[in-house]
Amino acid sequence: MSELANSHLLQVIDLKTHFFVSRGTLKAVDGVSFYLNKGEVLGIVGESACGKSVTGLSLMRLIEPPGKIVGGQILFNGEDLLKLGEKDMLKIRGRQITMIQQNPDTSLNPVFRIGNQIAEAITTHRKLSKEALNEKVIELLRLVRIPSPEVRALDYPHQMSGGMRQRIAGAIALACDANLLIADEPTTNLDVTTQAQYIKLLEQIQSETGVGIIFITHDFGIVSTLTDRVAVMYAGRIVETGPTKDLMEKPAHPYTRALLDSVPKPGSSSTRLHSIQGGPPNPNKMPPGCRFAPRCEKVKPECLKEYPPEVKINNNRSASCYYVG
Ligand SMILES: Nc1ncnc2c1ncn2[C@@H]1O[C@H](COP(=O)(O)OP(=O)(O)O)[C@@H](O)[C@H]1O
Ligand code: SF4
Ligand SMILES: [Mg+2]
Repeated sequence: MSELANSHLLQVIDLKTHFFVSRGTLKAVDGVSFYLNKGEVLGIVGESACGKSVTGLSLMRLIEPPGKIVGGQILFNGEDLLKLGEKDMLKIRGRQITMIQQNPDTSLNPVFRIGNQIAEAITTHRKLSKEALNEKVIELLRLVRIPSPEVRALDYPHQMSGGMRQRIAGAIALACDANLLIADEPTTNLDVTTQAQYIKLLEQIQSETGVGIIFITHDFGIVSTLTDRVAVMYAGRIVETGPTKDLMEKPAHPYTRALLDSVPKPGSSSTRLHSIQGGPPNPNKMPPGCRFAPRCEKVKPECLKEYPPEVKINNNRSASCYYVG
């Protein structure tokens, strides 16, 4: 392994996750590579159906038939997760790598008090005395800024707002002191104010715990404050990566530019968004050349022949396009 790979908390190399369905092979994730340093926040941004969730679930090795991880490497602290048996993977999933899903109710049980659910998440991973366990539950509720945690620990999920439930799902995910947190569109079902509060909370949690975060979203507006770097995903591949500010100021790939154009500008009175025409290609019929070609304003005949190579723009930035810039 290279020296560079050793310094990464996570390095994903040429990951491929396909779904084998009656209408063909859906290449949901089709050669994805990216890395995350310890304590870093990476945004994975792209439209719906680009393969973001399948990427997140692949990192957790939670892909079920008809899906299968068919290629690549997922190096976590230098160890390839794809080579581990399920028993060893259990020691990593939910302990060292953890996930918050779009719908908090997937991780909450409606019939148990939330304090008990957090306690259960803790005890799956380690044994604590009753007092220490209670203390840890309250500490986690404080970490996700639940007011009066001693009282709210006795609530059932339905007694809380959507925003609070999503914070509880966060507390459950953080119950194991993981060093990688995958947050898959955790704010999509929240109103704008609660969304902003949640992003601030994730920032605070990151600086308090040092956890590395992969934040998956379709919304560039959300990644701007939270993330250090961004990977833009389109049709099962990463098409551009770079430090967030730099990439947002000077996007190199036409898809990144189009996505950014569809974000409302601060202070703009227009409520009409410039959205990109058309949709991503069907994952069982990917075009042979650039997958964005059917929607790209800059398309040229050569774009249709072969998938564009990854062009290094500088040390930190790259994009897969024949006409970068
Ligand atoms: N369980 C599944 N069975 C078949 N196809 C799936 C399954 N899960 C995801 N896919 C397909 O994989 C592609 C990527 O999906 P997903 O990763 O959920 O997209 P995103 O999270 O970017 O919206 C989609 O075309 C979707 O239809
Ligand atoms: S390779 Fe061609 S079609 Fe693809 S994004 Fe670049 S200019 Fe557009
Ligand atoms: Mg998704």
